[in-house]
Amino acid sequence: MGFVRNAWYVAGWSSEFGGDLRAITILEQNIVTFRAADGRVVALEDRCPHRLLPLSKGKRLGDTIQCGYHGMTFDGAGRCVRIPGQDRIPANAYVTAYPIEERHDIVWIWMGDPAQADPARLFNMPEFSDPRWHAHQGEALHLKSNYLNVAENLVDPAHVSFVHPTTLGNAASENVPVQVDTEGDPIVAWRWIRDSAPIGFFKNFGNFQGTVDRWHYYYLHLPCTAVIDFGSSDAAARLAEEDRDQGVRIFALHFMTPVNAQYTIDRWMHLRNTAQGDDAVSAQMDAMFNIAFAEDKAILEAIQEEENRPQQRPPVRLLIDKASNVYRKRIDDLVAAERPAA
Ligand code: FES
Ligand SMILES: [Fe+2]
Repeated sequence: MGFVRNAWYVAGWSSEFGGDLRAITILEQNIVTFRAADGRVVALEDRCPHRLLPLSKGKRLGDTIQCGYHGMTFDGAGRCVRIPGQDRIPANAYVTAYPIEERHDIVWIWMGDPAQADPARLFNMPEFSDPRWHAHQGEALHLKSNYLNVAENLVDPAHVSFVHPTTLGNAASENVPVQVDTEGDPIVAWRWIRDSAPIGFFKNFGNFQGTVDRWHYYYLHLPCTAVIDFGSSDAAARLAEEDRDQGVRIFALHFMTPVNAQYTIDRWMHLRNTAQGDDAVSAQMDAMFNIAFAEDKAILEAIQEEENRPQQRPPVRLLIDKASNVYRKRIDDLVAAERPAA
């Protein structure tokens, strides 16, 4: 299985992009980036068309990059603007320029046909611009894992009871069935655990005295964005599904950037309807997330190592796999639809 190219992927948090040349790899493509004088991020193929030296090994001159080998110079659109020693610039003397959009302090890159790069398709959610919600960028998890396995983990409420017992789950949820809606985009998997002890996360942040109702909704937007809506409310309130805003509610966002078939960067952040503007709470939540995501990393990397070894038989599929099965099928279809006809 390959990659969906006609999609916006996260190239990084805005804070990762400065004036210096920076080399990144996304979908196996090497890309050089820098922030131009007008503030816009430039992203170019990181390979000089002459002798293939990565342009990131050259130098930035104004808003152009000069190749470090013979000085061919490219502007932010990838056009060659100078070849030392000759006036004629051949038609094939260019590098690919990638469309970039920056929004909510996130830099997005379009990896497919530039003509189809529609900013209206950028991931968005209304809570980003709602003052009742606090947005906080977390960190980047580097996973030696194929992105499909990472995505699967992010549409999977069932693993939480076993993998994250001190933070996001506890034994009360082990046997609670997972519900799914696989009709649209995003694919959704969720469950409620009613009237049970608060999980570690909400022991710290909810100030709950007795038992709680808690929920976990996993929204997987194709191809590579996951939103996990989780929260808790006093069990006595008997909160209805649609009233989740009345509880302590958190959206954990994961932006998966496939580097190659065996490596994925998961940039995570959260939005919350509590402790707005309180940096200490942000730091405490990051600490909890760091514990949980290190647990996922250990599992995902161990799985990748097993996948790389010879397989004797196909994996067993369970009831809890419905959402991930549909996800894989959809990705497969999208990749096939992009493949040029033979
Ligand atoms: S390799 Fe870039 S100019 Fe020669
Ligand atoms: Fe997890």
